Amino acid sequence: MKILVVGGGGREHAIIKALKKSPDCTEIWCAPGNGGISCDAICKNIKATDVQAMVAFAAEEKFDYVVVAQDDPLALGMVDALAAVGIPAFGPDKAAARIEASKVFSKNLMQKYGIPTAGYGVFDDPAQAMEYIRKQGKYPVVIKADGLALGKGVLICQSEAEAEEGIKEIMLDKKFGASGNNVVVEEFLTGPEVSVLAFTDGTTLKPMVSSMDHKRAGDNDTGLNTGGMGTIAPNPYYTPEMAQRCMEEIFLPTIRAMQAEGCPFKGCLYFGLMLTPDGPKVIEYNCRFGDPETQVVLPLLEGDLLRIMRATTDGNLADVEVRFADGAAACVILASGGYPVAYEKGKVIDGLTEGQLAQPMDGVTVYHSGTAVQDGAMVTAGGRVLGVSATAATLPQALEKAYKACDTIHFEAMHKRTDIGRRALEALKTRNV
Ligand code: AMP
Ligand code: GLY
Repeated sequence: MKILVVGGGGREHAIIKALKKSPDCTEIWCAPGNGGISCDAICKNIKATDVQAMVAFAAEEKFDYVVVAQDDPLALGMVDALAAVGIPAFGPDKAAARIEASKVFSKNLMQKYGIPTAGYGVFDDPAQAMEYIRKQGKYPVVIKADGLALGKGVLICQSEAEAEEGIKEIMLDKKFGASGNNVVVEEFLTGPEVSVLAFTDGTTLKPMVSSMDHKRAGDNDTGLNTGGMGTIAPNPYYTPEMAQRCMEEIFLPTIRAMQAEGCPFKGCLYFGLMLTPDGPKVIEYNCRFGDPETQVVLPLLEGDLLRIMRATTDGNLADVEVRFADGAAACVILASGGYPVAYEKGKVIDGLTEGQLAQPMDGVTVYHSGTAVQDGAMVTAGGRVLGVSATAATLPQALEKAYKACDTIHFEAMHKRTDIGRRALEALKTRNV
């Protein structure tokens, strides 16, 4: 099969590396891809959000299967547009992608079908939003822009004044554009966070190994929220009992709710969960693989990713095995200094050969998030640059390997967190899970 992956980050790189292991994958392309991905796939420079150009290209090149990995083309209906020209694709259609693209849609869905989530109100008027916040009188309070905002449209406000400023930024200054026409005001929840990605064909759901993201830019969860600075899998807080409970109270009810609403979800559904003192609750849904969760989840997948993906499209996921290796994985993101705000690009990256470690280490893979090839050299081209991923028998070993590998890579103003997995290790140690 000739396959096209739409996107150009570390997640797409991990998907491509996994797909290439399938005996059915004979040719693989990526659009737009990046410098490191070009070592594994033929890259075509089409913007992931240019649905028309992408579909025309896919038809012209006669791809057998397209994997739409990024949220915005899914929200724009790329899977629908590909179907219209007869090309099957991995990912939800436009109607089902609303589960991520509109927080108002997902919150109302959860309320209607009794899926546990934070209490909330929806507003299109700033004054009414503030009135609700004042009436609740509970801080911190969480304010979320309705639409997609690169993971940055969530504000946690510690006081009425901060909330007022937040509502102004989102609704009046339109910091996130039209995404902020509506806001969700949410109760602040506490507890460990767990990411669970699941394959689904709309009826059957098969969860992947759980993981833990580290969203803040700095050590000890300080600094700004980012797309994710590192991940570990499995997540020690996610016990088999908790998994069972989430399946019954959250995963299956969500799949059934989407069916009942007439928009069955096919593809990878991402459950961002918080394990609160009152039980597991949904913080957010994503309509796609997580980044950098994918960089720890797929290295542990045993079996044929392409077969599993096609089964979600064809509706026969029940017949396909989804199995994960024992052991653990860790991914440390190497970012450009200044990310997620202002940073420079075009810095030469030392320590790589053909995109991988110049001195290879067993079980270590370098996934490229934001790189480009310039005059024959690999250079930085984004905020998140590389994801250095390691698998091992245990989490401490995986972390040690990942950090050791990081020490062999260098570029100017490189920034990484030094405490990826620390909370998970503490949880394992105290058995407080
Ligand atoms: P989201 O983009 O919805 O995942 O939110 C980004 C981050 O904000 C989450 O990973 C949480 O750490 C935090 N967050 C979002 N909603 C809540 C909430 N209701 N209570 C506490 N923290 C939250
Ligand atoms: N790492 C969080 C996300 O992919 O949304």
